[in-house]
Amino acid sequence: MRSIAIVSAMHEELRALLPLLEDVRVQERAGRRFHVAKLHGRPVVLVLSGIGKVAAATTAAVLLDGFDVEALVLTGVAGGLHDGVQVGDVVVARELLQHDMDASPIFPRYEVPLTGRARFAVDAALADALATAAARCLAAAHADGRALRDFGIGTPRLHRGLVVSGDRFVSSAAESAALRAALPDALAVEMEGAAIAQVCHDFGRPFAVLRTISDRADDSAHVDFGRFIEDVASVCTRAIVAAWLAPANPAS
Ligand code: ADE
Repeated sequence: MRSIAIVSAMHEELRALLPLLEDVRVQERAGRRFHVAKLHGRPVVLVLSGIGKVAAATTAAVLLDGFDVEALVLTGVAGGLHDGVQVGDVVVARELLQHDMDASPIFPRYEVPLTGRARFAVDAALADALATAAARCLAAAHADGRALRDFGIGTPRLHRGLVVSGDRFVSSAAESAALRAALPDALAVEMEGAAIAQVCHDFGRPFAVLRTISDRADDSAHVDFGRFIEDVASVCTRAIVAAWLAPANPAS
């Protein structure tokens, strides 16, 4: 049986997923540790992407070239851009775009040269399955919301749409306003998703991206970032991944 790859952007998230694994073997390649294992009886490979587009692209290329992977899911946190996308919400991407790709005037702004495209679509069935699991977990998290209350999170919501990626941690109101103006349908910003999307496209492999919103990509974006990942995002990702791959889940 081929494996599902789960790529985490942050150490804390990978650490939170490791206790779910059985029969773990670690293989090291290109300085990355690939955890080949079973999760709910399903073959999986877990790995840290590294931060930024190049690190994530290397991880995805080594993973897809060296392991028998049927689909890849990237998890992590993101900054909320769109008005309704608040801290604690979850975004399941429909499309990914590199907001810092600009080879104009030779190619249209955002277009990845020689691919003819700026936006890379996720696999719809995979994203639907993750969104179903995420909606269930958000409802449960709301019911038992201690960590959520600490961060002033009310009712976390699920969003689906465009996620943009670039090699910048967006941490000023001016920069997030500029991104909103240039890409009005962008829901969230992070640093790896569109790179992984491009690599999966090159390999012809289905992928999806799941992000918990950790900040509003504004002047206070860095506040409590580490604690949020540890206390909220990692817990949220673990619950969603476990629900998604649970044997009783027909959507997985
Ligand atoms: N990941 C989480 N928050 C982010 C932000 N504000 N900018 C880029 N990547 C992020």
